[in-house]
Amino acid sequence: MSYFTEENSEAAVINRLGDDVDPRFRQIMESAVKHLHGFVKEVEPTMDEWFQAIQFLTATGKMCDDKRQEWILASDTLGVSMLVDAINHRRPDGATENTVLGPFHVSGAPVRALGENICLDGKGAPCVVSGTVTDENGAPIAGAKVDVWQTNDEGFYDVQQPGVQPDMNMRGLFTTDESGHYHYTTVKPLPYSIPTDGPVGELLVAMGRHAMRPAHIHYIVSAPGYETLVTHIFPKGDPYLDSDAVFGVKESLIVDFVDEGGSTSARFDVKLKKVG
Ligand code: BEZ
Ligand code: FE
Repeated sequence: MSYFTEENSEAAVINRLGDDVDPRFRQIMESAVKHLHGFVKEVEPTMDEWFQAIQFLTATGKMCDDKRQEWILASDTLGVSMLVDAINHRRPDGATENTVLGPFHVSGAPVRALGENICLDGKGAPCVVSGTVTDENGAPIAGAKVDVWQTNDEGFYDVQQPGVQPDMNMRGLFTTDESGHYHYTTVKPLPYSIPTDGPVGELLVAMGRHAMRPAHIHYIVSAPGYETLVTHIFPKGDPYLDSDAVFGVKESLIVDFVDEGGSTSARFDVKLKKVG
């Protein structure tokens, strides 16, 4: 074996992998080394640029704790989260499409009766969202769980404003009735900015990008025997549909929010894919 050179760099590192390394881990590490060295050879960073990259990675790690995950935000804004999501949730035509979970889901949302209001702070005009949960062929799924959450009328999640918003504001867990139907009351969601007070915010500015997400309501829909669906709905006409900071928009998830003079209504039908 020759010593490390610019030319043999990938092989020099890959050849050090031990004989007993797990095959899947070997595949991942070989590919990571190949692409990383390929990237470095393509851009030929200066020592200053390389150190700037190290500082970004360090700052991103330091920003992470049990409440804030700057690494996931980096993955989201570079389109990696949506790519991993797409690879892992290939669905047949007709089944509802997945999108990113995002960092603001809270488990244990209040269990609510159909029609109940998830808006606990009294801000904003009412909006009723309804629909059905069916299988891919349109057969109703009774007893499906529909977990929804969104920002309030000022564009913030309850967990971003502890002590300001009531706990569990704009969250609810609904169960479909015998005909697979659900409906709940909320307020029309607003576009909002992802957190920009960390290194990912600085990176977006440096890349000439904004940090806005189009308005949306998050859903997790589950039923025994079906793949759990993690998705959002987006109001048609939102100014950020074409430039979502985390690339979460899909055509099939854009929904008409109909103005009904002081209130709004929207319909979102869900088709779940059978497991297997
Ligand atoms: C969200 O939808 O809440 C979200 C998703 C990805 C990054 C930040 C926020
Ligand atoms: Fe969100």
